[in-house]
Amino acid sequence: MHPRILKKLATDTRSQHCTRMLTAALLVAASVMSATAGQFEETDRTNPSALQDDANPAAIRSGELWPDDEGVHINAHGGGILKHGDTFYWYGEHKAEHTSNALVGVTCYSSKDLLHWHNCGVALSVTDEHGHDIERGCIIERPKVIYNNVTKKFCMWFHLELKGRGYDAARYGVAVASRPEGPFKFLYSQRADAGTWPLEFGEKELAVVDTLNAANFKQEWTPAWLKAVDEGLIVKRDFPKGQMSRDMTLYVDDDGKAYHIFSSEENLTLHIAELTADYLHHTGRYTRVAPAGHNEAPAIFKHDGTYWMITSGCTGWEPNEARMFSSTSIWGPWTQHANPCRGPKAEKTFGGQSTFILTIDHSSLRSGAGGTPLNNEHSSSISNVQSASNNVQSSINNVQSSINNVQYIFMADIWRPRHPIDARYIWLPIEFEEGKPIIRWREEWKPDF
Ligand code: DGJ
Repeated sequence: MHPRILKKLATDTRSQHCTRMLTAALLVAASVMSATAGQFEETDRTNPSALQDDANPAAIRSGELWPDDEGVHINAHGGGILKHGDTFYWYGEHKAEHTSNALVGVTCYSSKDLLHWHNCGVALSVTDEHGHDIERGCIIERPKVIYNNVTKKFCMWFHLELKGRGYDAARYGVAVASRPEGPFKFLYSQRADAGTWPLEFGEKELAVVDTLNAANFKQEWTPAWLKAVDEGLIVKRDFPKGQMSRDMTLYVDDDGKAYHIFSSEENLTLHIAELTADYLHHTGRYTRVAPAGHNEAPAIFKHDGTYWMITSGCTGWEPNEARMFSSTSIWGPWTQHANPCRGPKAEKTFGGQSTFILTIDHSSLRSGAGGTPLNNEHSSSISNVQSASNNVQSSINNVQSSINNVQYIFMADIWRPRHPIDARYIWLPIEFEEGKPIIRWREEWKPDF
């Protein structure tokens, strides 16, 4: 039986108590068939909790199931958003039922209003070629896509771990496409900036690096070891083969320069690396942020000339308290601030972990990392989409007026390591209080256009 028919059966029977067992069996069968066919769309149907009738969400409800236009919970985790033309594209990790390893690849959804999403399918597929960098079963995390206005290419970067090697490889992967929904062609994966010191390592710093010797630090996490990490102990260790590259995001600045921001040095230090003009390689210019500070999950935006970066601590799939940093230059120095979250579970990032911050500039009608300008026709059609309840509407207007026509949306993941496909999303507007970003919990809200 075709998986679509199995899904139909499952949907038709799910309200009947006596046929629930049959439904579950059919879903498992669908899962096996779809895995064979390598089809992400059908694999999604294996999540019974995602089968629901509501394909028309009225508001963003963080932490709840988020149905796409077919009523299936969106499967695009650790992701990011690209605005291209009048359309938002959401790229993320496809998660399976019982493993976080990549069985499918990077998925893509499209939307005109950030609320209603259409499943565009698999943007970057894993392969069955044995030994390939993105062989099925590898780990692909936190994919982000930016558009290069010069080459007219969509450039995808992601965190890659090679199949069967846990989190040891610590590489970034790069893929490219001519259309936003793909297919993306895998180009290469590697560690970062082999044979290159960070920009801030001058003669004085390199003299200190020269004295650092891993053999002198039998015990980790001592003040002496942390000081040595701060001074470059792990940068030195990985200098020949390249710096580790795990949790990541991309950022395109106002001048068109793009940056890859990632957890490096055993997740102890963030690196910001400049990209080449085609957005496909590092230039070799990079800086370190919060050395020995143990940050993951970087997400960044710029407001009134200040870069704000929100990160998490390192507790695996468990949530922890968000951190926030600011700088007036991408090259630092970066200053740490208090946790920006407010409301229930604020000390655990509302149960989630940051992944991306979307910028929507309503005044210039230009939005997103690598986004392209919208014209007025697009803008009015987007305004027409708005149909929120009065309550939701007024809370959104407050958000918008507080930040002068520019909206920033904080995006995070609520991981479900035992049932990865059921992971949830947190999307909340960023507000400003005393000049600093804050993220207030909202049960529901709707982005304004
Ligand atoms: C936390 C990271 O932020 C996730 O992307 C993932 O790598 C998990 N750790 C794995 O434990």
